[in-house]
Amino acid sequence: MERPYDNFATYYDRVFRPFERLYLAAARRETIAELPENAMLLEVGAGTGANFEYYPRFRSAVASELSPQMLGHARTKTSSIALTQADAQQLPFPDDRFDAAFATLVFCTIPDPARAFGELSRVVKPGGLIVLFEHVRPSGILGYVFDVLSRATVALIDDHFDRRTAETARLSGLEIIEIRSKAFGIFNLIVARVGA
Ligand SMILES: C[S@@+](CC[C@H](N)C(=O)[O-])C[C@H]1O[C@@H](n2cnc3c(N)ncnc32)[C@H](O)[C@@H]1O
Repeated sequence: MERPYDNFATYYDRVFRPFERLYLAAARRETIAELPENAMLLEVGAGTGANFEYYPRFRSAVASELSPQMLGHARTKTSSIALTQADAQQLPFPDDRFDAAFATLVFCTIPDPARAFGELSRVVKPGGLIVLFEHVRPSGILGYVFDVLSRATVALIDDHFDRRTAETARLSGLEIIEIRSKAFGIFNLIVARVGA
């Protein structure tokens, strides 16, 4: 079975390099700074491992990713983070296994984000943090532009530009602690907590 990012894996780091320099590296740092130190961490949709260099000190860390090709590139970037091929909608971990989980630029691609939030709520301990950096549907006129844009991006690269990710997280039972709106509302840094 071919996954959306299998074919993109070879080019991903090269295509993203200018965006990393301009914006993403700082966003990754800010996002990951929200995670607790010395914790048991889970990353979902880790891609080629672009976040690895920003991980805090951890007790244990697992980076999961759907595409084996993306995971192959991630493997070259770490020897201390455990890598697992897994769908965020069906995680192969027991209940309450992690202290915190995070994802960057992933919930725009997951077919059923509510199901993935259900899984994160299951594998993260009650009271644990879930931290996300995601592109989302902005408010105002730009939102309508993104609705139209989304039709093309979904058809081309399975990427939804019209997602209301924080709202989906809330409706999935997560407690939203903070939403930091970035770049005219195109990106959100979302800090949420699993209910006790
Ligand atoms: C835009 S990339 C982001 C990769 C990385 N998080 C980053 O910030 O560079 C989206 C990633 O989500 C992964 N992905 C898509 N659907 C997924 C799912 N259902 N479960 C786990 N990962 C998924 C893709 O394979 C891809 O690696």
